[in-house]
Amino acid sequence: MKKSKRIETLDKRPVNMDGYINEWPEMGFVAMASPYDPKPSIKVENGKIIELDGKKREDFDFIDQFIADYAIHTGRAEKSMTVPSLDIARMIVDIHVSRKEILEIVSGITPAKMVEVMNHLNVVELMMGMQKMRARRMPGNQAHITNLKDDPVQIAADAAEGALRGFAEEETTMGVARYAPLSAIALLIGSQVGRPGILTQCSAEEATELELGIRGLTTYAETLSVYGTEKVFIDGDDTPYSKAFLNSAYASRGLKVRFTSGSGSEVLMGNSEKKSMLYLECRCLYATKGAGSQGIQNGSVSCIGVPGAVPGGIREVMSENLVAALLGLECASSNDQSFSNSDMRRTARTMLQFLPGTDFIFSGYAGEPNYDNMFAGSNFDAEDFDDYNVLQRDMQVDGGLRPVTEEEVIHVRQKAGKAVQAVFRQLGLSPISDEQVEAVTYAHGSKDTLPRDVTADLMAAEDVLKRGITGIDVVKALAESGYQDLAEHVLSMLKQRVAGDYMQTAAILDRDFHVLSGVNTPNDYMGPGTGYRVEGERWEEIKKIPHIINPQDI
Ligand code: 5AD
Ligand code: CA
Repeated sequence: MKKSKRIETLDKRPVNMDGYINEWPEMGFVAMASPYDPKPSIKVENGKIIELDGKKREDFDFIDQFIADYAIHTGRAEKSMTVPSLDIARMIVDIHVSRKEILEIVSGITPAKMVEVMNHLNVVELMMGMQKMRARRMPGNQAHITNLKDDPVQIAADAAEGALRGFAEEETTMGVARYAPLSAIALLIGSQVGRPGILTQCSAEEATELELGIRGLTTYAETLSVYGTEKVFIDGDDTPYSKAFLNSAYASRGLKVRFTSGSGSEVLMGNSEKKSMLYLECRCLYATKGAGSQGIQNGSVSCIGVPGAVPGGIREVMSENLVAALLGLECASSNDQSFSNSDMRRTARTMLQFLPGTDFIFSGYAGEPNYDNMFAGSNFDAEDFDDYNVLQRDMQVDGGLRPVTEEEVIHVRQKAGKAVQAVFRQLGLSPISDEQVEAVTYAHGSKDTLPRDVTADLMAAEDVLKRGITGIDVVKALAESGYQDLAEHVLSMLKQRVAGDYMQTAAILDRDFHVLSGVNTPNDYMGPGTGYRVEGERWEEIKKIPHIINPQDI
């Protein structure tokens, strides 16, 4: 056959390097509605749910039972279930119906009913829903702070720069798991250099992560994974009950916690029970609510390749974010894994959360170049900062970030590197040279930094655990080495754990350590003229991108 040059050109486009698959409900490759999804139903007897979505109580698996016992408002259920799904969908986009009214109605519907409601909404309506249902009045953003060498100096510098750029939460993880204590300390210090009040997290094996949290070396946890079928849960050695228990363990020490879930995980693990991705994700979200978690990181997360490959998959991702908000959960809405070779496609995918705003638009924007991203690469990385800032400016949208100057970047990176150097010295951990601090200060990524003595670092990391070093030891080391301001900031983070207010839904802290949450600053959007608007100082800040012409100067 004679070849078309047009088709040849199109075939070579990045978008055609992505993977696509036809719907295949038997294996779970279906986004929003599978022919095998259950029909909505509920029966309540003496305050107890005895039938849920076509299943009798005696046939419940442990997820059904958990949802029935803890996640549905039984007093509301029968009334809510009689409201047609189309009516609920219309109320979600109706500016005259408040967030509060919708939360109340939705508290009594079942997962299968929730799926029906979502299927009535197109992507613009899903965004309108999120604009109203997001918990916190103002949107926010979260960064990944990692590097290939697990270099604590670079973690500190990237954390400082990320905080300066506007991220309210910063999360790290390791290439070599044993580095965790050093990564946590570096992130804790570096973040407070960039902007006081940043929450930090170190994603590690569950027992280690909990221990770092209890010691005050982190301030929140988020990778408490839940799944939509019993078999996948069991393969992870978990139940909704064990996750609820872990959530409570963190909460008992005053740490903010959210769960993680997302479409595609059950497909990848071969146990989707022929159900749609959205239905299974609804089960995860109900389990999250039932466990008493304030929030969720969802939107497929690390499994984005799966919904990304099927028809309507990106609409499904936005649907699951909205379901989280409808259940009253804080939503950290993913965008945290690269899934496409196409710049157009990866940007378009992010617009669904960026335009309405979510509690955390990215639950992991790579604060470093993607080659340093130890979460396997994010949808946006450090090389996209200016694109992102221009998008905010073009559309007058608050995406949680802000433009910065080169002087500020160099200043905070250097201060963070030096502070970590001083704390490591004070605590007798592994040495950090002036040359290492200098390299990290001006670096883009780990290709520009000096090697670490890995053996010395790992011994120091072990030492942190053995000696029982805590957040208070970090505060003392900072104070004793002349970093009074940082000592006070880290101490203020520890005090938050005693007050506990930042455990409320969608809480972040401002630079004065005031809590901004869905409780004290709830989303009050009800159409034009209401809700959060980009204006005043914040708009001036967003406007100040680099490389700009000032007409008055010409
Ligand atoms: N479902 C559940 N947990 C997930 N994670 C990422 N994606 C999902 C998902 N779709 C969690 C896992 C992983 C961490 C990075 O986030 O626990 O280890
Ligand atoms: Ca995250």
